[in-house]
Amino acid sequence: MKTIPENGLDHNDILDEMRGYGKGDVNYRDSKTWSLVYHLNDEHTDFLKQAYGLYFSENGLNPMAFQSLKRFETDIINMTAQMLYGDKKTVGTLTSGGTESCLLPVLTYRDMAKAKRKLPFKPEMIAPESIHVAWSKAAKYFGVKIIYAPLKSDFRVDVEAVRKLINRRTIMLVGSAPSYPHGVIDPIEELSSVALQYDLPLHVDSCLGGFLLPFIEKNGGAVPPFDFRVPGVTSISADVHKYGFAAKGASTVLYRDMKYMKHQFFVHEDWPGGVFASPALLGTRPGGAFAAAWAALHALGESGYRENAKQIMDITRSLQKGIKAIDGLKVLGQPDMSVFAYGSTDEQVNIFAVGDQMESKGWQIDRLQKPEALHVMVVPGHSRIIDDYLTDLAQAVEFVRSKPELASKGNAAMYGMIANLPFRGMIKKEVMKMMEGMYSSRGQMPMSGDDNPLLVKMVSKLMHRFKSKS
Ligand SMILES: Cc1ncc(COP(=O)(O)O)c(C=O)c1O
Repeated sequence: MKTIPENGLDHNDILDEMRGYGKGDVNYRDSKTWSLVYHLNDEHTDFLKQAYGLYFSENGLNPMAFQSLKRFETDIINMTAQMLYGDKKTVGTLTSGGTESCLLPVLTYRDMAKAKRKLPFKPEMIAPESIHVAWSKAAKYFGVKIIYAPLKSDFRVDVEAVRKLINRRTIMLVGSAPSYPHGVIDPIEELSSVALQYDLPLHVDSCLGGFLLPFIEKNGGAVPPFDFRVPGVTSISADVHKYGFAAKGASTVLYRDMKYMKHQFFVHEDWPGGVFASPALLGTRPGGAFAAAWAALHALGESGYRENAKQIMDITRSLQKGIKAIDGLKVLGQPDMSVFAYGSTDEQVNIFAVGDQMESKGWQIDRLQKPEALHVMVVPGHSRIIDDYLTDLAQAVEFVRSKPELASKGNAAMYGMIANLPFRGMIKKEVMKMMEGMYSSRGQMPMSGDDNPLLVKMVSKLMHRFKSKS
């Protein structure tokens, strides 16, 4: 087990060692990855580092002490509100990321409901099956039951099903703009009518699309209404650290009016440490992330965001066209922006086996379940690799078609089993065990150790138990 060195080490030696650890990481700079990092270019990253560095030590916990950070926050919220067609009444807070921007509205609307009426029962929120997993986390953290509404065949939520799920326990509705898995925008206008009819708040999770959809629309693209122009929308989350191309640790949660957001605030007047007030989830808030987000918005400007949106959508269209042209593949639904999923139309072509082939060619592939698919999230750097990706993909599909047995081998078999096992609780239990290993003092990574990844063992164990039960 590692201990703190007795004496401090040489800075260069420390940095060298740290660089060494990064060598095995996913290399997003070669544009072979499709998630996790929203990299624009090295020049922009260097600029963000400078902006971050200027406020590296400052703490947004106390806006009186660091008025600079409050200024950044107010400016970022106002710019985002204006981008999403809010008005003078629109308010919001900067948060540490999309998850915090999804957690907070659940707390807010739960407490708002409590302030309005007695809730002798567990409150419920209604969300599409495709809603980001951060909302299940919010439900768990804040004691709210999440009721999933089914999707229609176009992967958008079935609004009539939402309506039928509303009851006296319901405290809020949620929709995505767009959803992470399929990149489609839920019918926000229809959800808005239902929300207004039942006097319920409606949150739009636009963590992914908030800083891209407005510029696609300004470029003349068709974007279904999702922002404050839709009357029943009471709040929106939009991440600056995704398509806003800020440094990590910056998102926004906006409310149509302070009458909603005031339920988000926390004040404790009797703490021996002093009267404490906090607008969001964190205590200490990183000044660097505030500064880099402010800098990103000013460095790119509307024209920069529009240019990026154009490039990103050009790449997306080329990729989708190329994927559709490959015999045996289809794009799922009609994605509204640069995030989408594609799957197989041919029983002989197992899409997870295609994913394995792509990984063997050096691509980092994300997989979806229900239905099984591979996932794409486009950033400008992908312009360099469109042709290579499509060539490799066409070859991968042909290879898998010629060897259908690949579907029951390696990672394809593992992911297929995970996706299709009926006893989901067993998967949860095994994943929990894996987490305990990873966060133990050994920091055991699932893929390390012997040549059989822990996940493979885990799934074979699951299969064994499944078989013995069936
Ligand atoms: C729609 C949506 N909501 C919320 C989140 C959570 O964001 P974060 O990973 O920044 O916490 C994501 C992340 O991809 C997302 O796509």
